[in-house]
Amino acid sequence: MKFPVQLVCVTCVVIATSLAEFPPKYVEDPLSELPSGHLKAFGYHRLPDGPVAEEKGFLHPKIFWGKYVSIHKPMVFRQAISDSPAILKWTDGYLVETFGDLDLILEVKREDRTKQPQRTNISSFIERYIKEDIYAVTVLPDPMRAEVQVPSCLLCGTFRDFMHETNFWMSSGGTRSVIHYDADENLHCIINGSKDFMMMHNKFRKYLPTFQKKQFTGSGFSSLDPDSVDLLKYPDVAKVQWTYTTLDPGDCIYIPSEYLHQVRSHKRTISATMLFTTDTSKSFQETNCEDASFNYTPLSAIDVHWTYKKGDKTIDMGYINVELLRQNLVDIFHMLGKGFLTVDDFVHVYSLASKDEEDEQSLQKAKELFTKVFEVDIDGKITEEQIKNLPRENLKTLGRGIDAPHGPVLDEEDDDDLDTSHGKDEL
Ligand SMILES: *[C@@H]1O[C@H](CO)[C@@H](O)[C@H](O)[C@H]1NC(C)=O
Ligand SMILES: *[C@@H]1O[C@H](CO)[C@@H](O)[C@H](O)[C@H]1NC(C)=O
Repeated sequence: MKFPVQLVCVTCVVIATSLAEFPPKYVEDPLSELPSGHLKAFGYHRLPDGPVAEEKGFLHPKIFWGKYVSIHKPMVFRQAISDSPAILKWTDGYLVETFGDLDLILEVKREDRTKQPQRTNISSFIERYIKEDIYAVTVLPDPMRAEVQVPSCLLCGTFRDFMHETNFWMSSGGTRSVIHYDADENLHCIINGSKDFMMMHNKFRKYLPTFQKKQFTGSGFSSLDPDSVDLLKYPDVAKVQWTYTTLDPGDCIYIPSEYLHQVRSHKRTISATMLFTTDTSKSFQETNCEDASFNYTPLSAIDVHWTYKKGDKTIDMGYINVELLRQNLVDIFHMLGKGFLTVDDFVHVYSLASKDEEDEQSLQKAKELFTKVFEVDIDGKITEEQIKNLPRENLKTLGRGIDAPHGPVLDEEDDDDLDTSHGKDEL
């Protein structure tokens, strides 16, 4: 992961100059035999369909649901978190002084999903991030959540109850993602710097080369090089329609689940993202919306499922929404119609969910998980009440059992030792 400084800076300059123009301008060249945009960055392959839809001011969750989430339509929510103290406070010095001992997961700037993430603390990250090829993409640590505003569109109902992960992203610029989609609904908000987004409907997935996906987490990405699109090898890419936006501090973009997107940053940029899901019936429950307060609310006031605080062995990232997991268990319970769940029912569901081979070892693992999650013997019969009252921690044990951890896990014996043998999950 340590690159010679010189090499990194050459790369930065090349990226910065070639991508300075946004949105990219498609130019038809009738004299050329090559397709327009060939070997240029993604976005030069055709004219955009225009900017992403925008909102500003107060946005009620019910309106957010009706106009956008229910129909999977991306939307830029200008100034949605502009009252966040983080926008003015999060200088390098303040981050080191106030949060220096908290841990982060690091990736490389030009997303490479074959590379293993690393773990380090904020102090050492700030010391290194300008010179080295590192990008913090991590769980927003608990104390930092207190300084980020919740956008009004998430302040009641299913959206508020089903926020399962919040993230912190920071780099000195020159980052670019691959073209990908995520399983969850996502609000990506800017705290410092700016980010360019290109958004593509998931119906265009078929025009992009190989999508690697995870069955259960429901995310995936294209193998296309977004910095140099080979339109001779992949002529169908020219059919991929796109919209665009640039976000500045305080702005958020709603990225619908499974919506394709590609993201770039050019200078010091900090983002906070909020992952949420709709429930299993794919609807919005208005619980608590009647008497909700839409006053300023920090993220620390939300009961986020997966969190990180100092001393935690793992930085739990990329796991399933546990309330969705609970609902799934209830749905399976009703589908079976027996009045209870047994270990065999559980093992069956587990093997479907985890994509594990149904070998002896994974059957054993599923059985152990059953007794651990429900705190019963192997012949226990689980009732609907038990599922509905299962503590979040138990559901998280199940969530961790289904997916491999995203980042390195601190060793039990020696906290300084990093065990990077675990598979990387997809963002
Ligand atoms: C980003 O933060 C730096 C200080 O850390 C500040 O000087 C700069 O104005 C901020 N830029 C934006 C666009 O927020
Ligand atoms: C951060 O990590 C470095 C390197 O592991 C260590 O030397 C330093 O004491 C840590 N700083 C804080 C504030 O925890």
